Amino acid sequence: MDLEVEVASLKLKNPLVLASGILGTTPSMLVKAHKAGAAAVTTKSLTLHPRSGYPNPVLVELRYGLINAIGLANPGVKEYLKECLELQGKLVDVPVIFSIAGSDVAGYEEAVKLIAEHGMGKAFELNLSCPHVKETRLFSEDPRLTAQVVKAVRDVTDLPIFVKIGLTTNLREVVEAAIKHGASAVTAINTVRATAIDIEAKRPVLSAIYGGLSGPAIKPIALRVIYELYEEFKIPLIGVGGIMSWEDVIEFLMAGASAVQLGTAVYKEGLRAFRKLLNGIESFMRKEGLSSLKDLIGVAH
Ligand SMILES: Cc1cc2nc3c(=O)[nH]c(=O)nc-3n(C[C@H](O)[C@H](O)[C@H](O)COP(=O)(O)O)c2cc1C
Repeated sequence: MDLEVEVASLKLKNPLVLASGILGTTPSMLVKAHKAGAAAVTTKSLTLHPRSGYPNPVLVELRYGLINAIGLANPGVKEYLKECLELQGKLVDVPVIFSIAGSDVAGYEEAVKLIAEHGMGKAFELNLSCPHVKETRLFSEDPRLTAQVVKAVRDVTDLPIFVKIGLTTNLREVVEAAIKHGASAVTAINTVRATAIDIEAKRPVLSAIYGGLSGPAIKPIALRVIYELYEEFKIPLIGVGGIMSWEDVIEFLMAGASAVQLGTAVYKEGLRAFRKLLNGIESFMRKEGLSSLKDLIGVAH
């Protein structure tokens, strides 16, 4: 059975990708996720300089998902690259997507340049949509800022550029701007700005007050965004948001995604989520008499 899919020039042995922010905080976890079945793996969003993120509590577990406000805590690009090099070749066969965040255009550009100079990674994903970090949240809400970041990054790398967007009312304009300036694919969606209240303390649970909602609660919204983008644009799509079961994966492919990312599913179930979903997808293909998974992409239209 052929589970292979393509996102721009990136060939994937199956459609499952590790989402940014879950386990990708260290390069050695990326190797483990790939071994566990992820066709490609996305790093935690990296910034040019280290960020300590927000103080605890940074995560709320709900029945229907998570709210996180990690605040893009990461060791910075230089330190992360050092850790990658220390793995001595173990990363060579792992399709790594470097997720980049920044507070200005130059921050994205410089970070990508550093990684490109080291010849690392198979693609870049520009996180233009973290809902709880003010500086990065702005980008995918404004088509002009989206254009500026994508254009600057396109000038410093030939690798595929995936533009990760959030829930935005400017969906069409933002994606148009991304495509015009050299985006290779769109990843949709990031977490959705949300909050939770501790009724004993009578205060918000998260130190940052607002966080990003992920998991089953946002699945129908993410699916709608993918469906809508597939109707309007030719650019490859990566679906993310609440994908917990193999049925969810099939829905996203039928809506038009060429690949999908798993975040909360891996947080809840660990790396076994990948194998479990792959088994389900294979059973479905057998039942449907499908020889290639690619044939499902966009069939719901
Ligand atoms: C704990 C946590 C940390 C995250 N960190 C990042 C991040 O650094 N960069 C990013 O682009 N998305 C980040 N995300 C968002 C996920 O990549 C994904 O877009 C979102 O969680 C929806 O997918 P899911 O429902 O499968 O988790 C994070 C999500 C969670 C739950």
